[in-house]
Amino acid sequence: MDTDLCEHTLERLSRLRLPGHLAVIMDGNGRWAERGGRPRHAGHRAGVRTVRMIIEAAARLKLDALTLFAFSSENWRRPKAEVRVLMELFRTTLDRELERLHENRIRLRVIGDRERLEKPLRRRLDYAETLTRDNEGLTLVIATSYGGRWELAQAARRLGEAVQRGELDPSTIDETVFSSALSAPDVPEPDLFIRTGGERRLSNFLLWQSAYTELYFTETLWPDFRLDDLAAALEDYAGRERRFGRTGEQLGRVRHA
Ligand code: FPP
Repeated sequence: MDTDLCEHTLERLSRLRLPGHLAVIMDGNGRWAERGGRPRHAGHRAGVRTVRMIIEAAARLKLDALTLFAFSSENWRRPKAEVRVLMELFRTTLDRELERLHENRIRLRVIGDRERLEKPLRRRLDYAETLTRDNEGLTLVIATSYGGRWELAQAARRLGEAVQRGELDPSTIDETVFSSALSAPDVPEPDLFIRTGGERRLSNFLLWQSAYTELYFTETLWPDFRLDDLAAALEDYAGRERRFGRTGEQLGRVRHA
């Protein structure tokens, strides 16, 4: 991977209480391009640089997992030419980066409705997952053709089928059983969400898994998002108190009079 990340910043960050799992909505590529009077696809191409930066930073900071929302179920409604560019970008980026990801012990996972992807891309994603399956470094989850509602419906369908086959007693379906039917049940729930580009919503991302996720929004457009912006988000997160429904006292917080 690139090694032009500021060592001093990484060192400072590594001393913070960091999220185990960071999930990112990479928004603002189109606006970044339009502001410079360029076509939208120029923004997506510029966004790939930030993708590389955040993967490297997450790996260097030894996070357990990084999920990137690359393409949503709703993004299929975009103009055909833009969808084509995005799919091609996933394929070429994967071709170019896979070896390096593997060398850096990164385990790649893909969540989303693969049936809608074109075969060559699907084949590469399957191959990349198999190749990196046993890597013990960062788990990199790419959400593509993904929607939280799609994932929940799919989990319900899987459980229904298991009931139908007589393998599952419906009365045993609780939160743990339901979670096990989601797309990547072995990946812990995200601790921190970052959304770039100024919008303040989840846009159908990891709906089940985000019940207790800390949210961080920034105006910065994805192609402009740098290590310093990531540092600001991680520093903000490190200062938050996570109570998971409990009180501050229960968690041993020092009370100030
Ligand atoms: C949102 O910006 C971004 C996307 C829909 C695509 C994100 C894809 C990449 C950064 C390319 C490569 C990714 C991987 C994982 C190789 P937008 O187009 O919605 O921006 P806008 O809100 O300004 O229109």
